[in-house]
Amino acid sequence: MSSGTTLYLKGAEFRYPDSDKKVLKGIDLDIRAGEWIALLGPNGSGKSTLLKLFNALLLPSQGSCFVDGIDTKEPQNIDLIRSKVSMVFQNPEDQIVASVVEEDTAFGPENLGLPSDEIVIRVKDALVGVGLWEKRKHSVSSLSGGQKQRLALAGVMAIRSGSLLLDEAMSMLDPTSRKSFLELIKMEHSNGRTVVQVTHRLDEILYSDRTVLLNEGQISWQGNTDVFLSGSEKELRDMGFAKPPVAVLKEELVKSRLIPASTRSDIAEIREKLCLSQLMT
Ligand SMILES: Nc1ncnc2c1ncn2[C@@H]1O[C@H](COP(=O)(O)OP(=O)(O)OP(=O)(O)O)[C@@H](O)[C@H]1O
Ligand SMILES: [Mg+2]
Repeated sequence: MSSGTTLYLKGAEFRYPDSDKKVLKGIDLDIRAGEWIALLGPNGSGKSTLLKLFNALLLPSQGSCFVDGIDTKEPQNIDLIRSKVSMVFQNPEDQIVASVVEEDTAFGPENLGLPSDEIVIRVKDALVGVGLWEKRKHSVSSLSGGQKQRLALAGVMAIRSGSLLLDEAMSMLDPTSRKSFLELIKMEHSNGRTVVQVTHRLDEILYSDRTVLLNEGQISWQGNTDVFLSGSEKELRDMGFAKPPVAVLKEELVKSRLIPASTRSDIAEIREKLCLSQLMT
């Protein structure tokens, strides 16, 4: 079991160089080790920028960012921070570094200076996990957009860092791959990793613990994901989101008193609670 990292922003502001616009405006966000956060918000609200503060790709213009209590502003801490925080970027092309699939996955563990037999094991585990083992000798350029996203995930899985930052990491996947990708994230999370997931789709956040809404560089709401998903379809639609069918199903079953209101919008949990309630009657 790997332990997750804590991620903490304190009064964090950010401005891109040569721009007057404050993209992040005093963000306070405290993420526990092993917590799964869904970060939502309209285009341009600052989600990708916020994620990049956590792996020190960007530094706050004001305020601070801490990873496991380590200030990202200290240049000597960069390597340590990067070993604790892995990011899957919005565009997988941005993180492909090698021309052959298995070489690309090996890049992160090689950089950590791990022994070669350990690298071989990690590369295999990661490529099997994302369903690209058969393609290990293929050229990266022969992969589809969705396969490249899975390769990017394999790269960070092989590093086995304490936290995973996912920036719309499933946007190019078909529904089946999306489901298996989500299962992998669930597994990483159950192994103790902290997950911060940026997405525009609510069916991807069902397993997250907390939802954080970002609007024009500020947190406009945060709370339990199930509470967020229990918002009315209209409320969610007004924010640009489609309510996931499983959340609608859960509400109907709660209304009919077939499952308790505390049931998560998770099909496995709904099924379990439903079976229990049938046994009791
Ligand atoms: N390199 C950059 N230089 C200057 N401005 C930038 C740069 N990158 C992003 N911005 C601006 O910062 C703001 C926030 O961008 P960011 O990419 O963090 O938003 P986002 O919430 O991730 O959006 P999306 O949902 O479209 O990915 C936007 O106004 C964007 O135009
Ligand atoms: Mg973005």
